[in-house]
Amino acid sequence: MAPKKFSEIKHNLLASLLGLFLFLFSIASAQLCPDFYEKTCPGALPAIENVVRAAVANESRMGASLLRLQFHDCFVNARVQKWKLGGPYWTVLLGRRDSTIANFSGTIDIPSPLLNLSGLITAFANKGLSASDLVTLYGAHTVGQTRCTIFRSRIYTENNIDPSYAASLRAICPATGGDDNLAPLDTETPTVFDNDIYKDMMVERGILHSDQQFYSGGSTDSQVEGYSNNPEAFAVDFGYAMIKMANISPLTGTSGQVRLNCRKVN
Ligand code: HEM
Repeated sequence: MAPKKFSEIKHNLLASLLGLFLFLFSIASAQLCPDFYEKTCPGALPAIENVVRAAVANESRMGASLLRLQFHDCFVNARVQKWKLGGPYWTVLLGRRDSTIANFSGTIDIPSPLLNLSGLITAFANKGLSASDLVTLYGAHTVGQTRCTIFRSRIYTENNIDPSYAASLRAICPATGGDDNLAPLDTETPTVFDNDIYKDMMVERGILHSDQQFYSGGSTDSQVEGYSNNPEAFAVDFGYAMIKMANISPLTGTSGQVRLNCRKVN
């Protein structure tokens, strides 16, 4: 074989270096990072923050709805909106792209509120989250509301519920009808992000069947007790757990797409 000319070697070397650079770039751009829009769209985060603040000022439940949206998006592999919530703060990793699937098949991964503790733990383990992450993230139920149709069976048929609490809920949620009537998930401070949901669990005032599972004589009781005594520890853990949840197999780099209309695939 004839020896290669210097220019040919140089060309090959440059091509290899370019290939390596592109490879490294694709790795770098295939990860979430806090400053994803810093150069391409520096106005993005302030604009989003303004819109979210206005929406929450207009309707206080919007914060809870957005928090829940992030949970569902992470579990079904769609895009997460970039935002932060009053209460604990955390660095949201950016750069998730939208799913190219636009049906409800992914929602099968969302755990049912009728599951027992082991089923809830398994649902989170399937997403790479621990039982401890589950207890921490479940603290999101410190804000927001739930519909009668979701908690009816608990207040009429279950025994591990404070009787006076169940009676007060029956006034909101009749045995038949009123399916969309609402009750707060956190009995004392439903619009404040605090640790009260854990205190509720300890006195059998979890409104959902799943709420009460975390304090039912099982492996998660001690973590519930810990958070009920230490709101700061809960707040810190919550931030870390949200970051971990946001990192569940995100679509980045060239995977997925950036939807022109959030509601449908391009
Ligand atoms: C095993 C885990 C979970 C189950 C079974 C569950 C179940 C539910 C259910 C049944 C509701 C009420 C829905 C309705 O009545 O229409 C709800 C509301 C809510 N969930 Fe969860 N959830 C879980 C985990 C999470 C996580 C991890 C987060 C966030 C990090 C979260 C945030 C919320 C919020 C904020 C609301 C209130 C939404 C609003 O008021 O609009 N949940 N959840």
